[in-house]
Order: sequence, then C-alpha cells, then structure tokens
Amino acid sequence: MKRIGMLTSGGDCQALNAAMRGVVKCLVNSKENVEIYGFIDGYKGLIYGNFRMLDGHDFSGILTKGGTILGSSRTPFKTIKDPDENGIDKVDAMKQNYYKLRLDCLVILGGNGTHKTANLLREEGLNVITLPKTIDNDLWGTDMTFGFQSAVNIATDAIDCIHTTAASHGRVFIVEVMGHKVGWLTLNAGMAGGADIILIPEIPYDIKKVVGKIQERNNNGSKFTILAVAEGAISKEDAKLSKKEYKEKMKNYKFPSVSYELAQQIEKMTGHEVRVTVPGHTQRGGSPCPYDRVFASRLGAEAGELILKGEYGFMIGYRNREVVKVPLEEVAGKLKMIAPDASIVKEAKLLGISFGD
Ligand code: F6P
Repeated sequence: MKRIGMLTSGGDCQALNAAMRGVVKCLVNSKENVEIYGFIDGYKGLIYGNFRMLDGHDFSGILTKGGTILGSSRTPFKTIKDPDENGIDKVDAMKQNYYKLRLDCLVILGGNGTHKTANLLREEGLNVITLPKTIDNDLWGTDMTFGFQSAVNIATDAIDCIHTTAASHGRVFIVEVMGHKVGWLTLNAGMAGGADIILIPEIPYDIKKVVGKIQERNNNGSKFTILAVAEGAISKEDAKLSKKEYKEKMKNYKFPSVSYELAQQIEKMTGHEVRVTVPGHTQRGGSPCPYDRVFASRLGAEAGELILKGEYGFMIGYRNREVVKVPLEEVAGKLKMIAPDASIVKEAKLLGISFGD
C-alpha cells in the first residue's frame, strides 16, 4: 500500500492536470494499492489538513483540462517559517498532517517558490517528489517546464493578431509578455511571432537603440514595428541601480508596467502612434497544447515510477531530450535565465531582431 499526498502550488499553468493524471495512471496501472490524498489550494491544504480522497476516476478526462483540479495558491517561502495569524507553525503543521495521514510521499507540482518549500520539507525528513510547472520556464535543473509551450502558443497568437492591425495602421505595437524575471516566454513568442524588437530582463535595453531600430525600419519602407516586451524588461540605467535604489524609484513609478513607459518614450522620440497590448493571464489559461500534454504525462509517469521504487527527494526534469531525476537540493533557490550570449540570442540577432542593447 502506498499513501500519496498531492498538491499544486503557486501560479497555475496548463498541463498541471495532465501531469497529475500521469502520476496516478502509472500508480493505478501497477499492482500496488494506492491511496491518494489531494490537498486543496497548494501548501495551504497541507498546512490546514484540507484534503480530498481521490481515486483513478477523479483523474479521468482531465488530460486536456487547463488549471488544476486541486486548486492552487501562493504560500510565499519568505514567510513559511513565520507563524500564521493564529500562531500556527506552518512547517510543523505540514509535517504533522503528513505523519497523521501516514503518507509515504508528497507529490508537489510547482515553480521556483514551491521548490524552495518542497526542499525544506525534504530537509525536515518528508519524502518528496516534485514536477516542474510554470509558463516562465525559469526552473533550474530542467531544460523545459510544462505550461511553457502552451503559453508560447498563446503569446504568439497575440503577436500574430497584432501584426495584421499594426501593418494596416502603420503603428508601433508593444505586446507585453509574462515571464516574471526571465525572458524565455518573450524570446520564444517574439521569434515565433516575427517581432522586430525583443526586450528581455537578461539584456537591459537602451531606449535610443530601440528607437533607432524603429527608425531604421521606417527608412527601409516598413511603416510598422512590433515589440515583444517581457514584463520584467529593464533599461540599462535601471539595471545599474542597487536593489534599494530601484525599489525607491519604483515607489513613484507612474506607469502600470514597463510597456507603457516605453510607449510614452517611443511616441515622444519618434512621433509615431504606439499601442500596448497585454495578453496577461490568458497566457496561463485554457487547455494545454499537445506538446505539454505529452511532456507533462511523461514526467508524471516517471514520478509514478519513482514512487513505486521508493526513491524520493527528486524533481523530475528534462535535460538534453531525456527525462531525468534531479536532486531537489540542486534545484531549490536557483533561477534559470537566458545567457545574453546564448546561441538563440545570437541567431535572433542574425535574423535582424534588435534586443535594444
Ligand atoms: O509565474 C507565473 C506568472 O504568470 C508570471 O509570469 C507572472 O509574473 C506571475 O505569475 C503573475 O502572478 P499572479 O497570477 O499572482 O498575478
């Protein structure tokens, strides 16, 4: 008999359900008896003992379903060791519930913050296996996270739609893409959508270079320009500020996001009409694309196999086209960013794409 606790934590994404289905299908198809405890709304469910008993039927028909059947929430790692508003020790409460239910293992699906807490639980002696989810693709130890390809598809669709209207009106358009502090989503969607300028956090931009590219296009007869701008894009001047100075500056920031600041600067410097489009959370919504369905199912199945073998303390990741197990302590607390000298950046530049650097 194996007793498995499962939870999804942090911002949701496509293919969370597909991944959980993969784990459960693998377990149900084995000869092992399994009991599955689904914790509701991420770590909160584990802290407060809020769970549902699930069986194979609960995971049937969810391969194509977006979101998470367990619900999710953000439980910041920064404050995980602080008592809650009623004085409850959250880490201790999670351990107590784990032992009370006599769980053999926790399967935790999440991104960066989630992995820090998962690793803490491992250090506290719990058996943990994790699966890498996030549209940001910023998790260390895996070349790819599930949710990423689905989000690339959606952000690319947004850029495709903007292309036709930008061309008709001869306007400059900024499409702001999610991704938190990294540019994977913007770079991939930007290249797929044929953006002329791609601004990512890893390569701070110079507004004069951005404007220069727009003018160069105009001089060559292109009346419109598309910019794919990461929500975390940053100017060269701002990148030079210390954390404290940057925080201070942001206190008086009057724009909803960097794209609106850029739009105002470009309008002033070029006289062009600039429009901003923010697809926002649509990038995390809807059904997983076929790639993510297959990918998340594969990772889920491998997680199921590790549970059957009783091997714990790993994230199931993907490296060099192989599904691999990565020790959790190697993953937790590290961000996977785009190296400014990565070959994809070089190739994008060879295609004439400007990074504003
Ligand atoms: O980490 C996924 C993500 O969608 C980021 O791309 C984005 O910055 C953030 O979550 C948005 O968070 P929330 O859903 O809490 O607004």
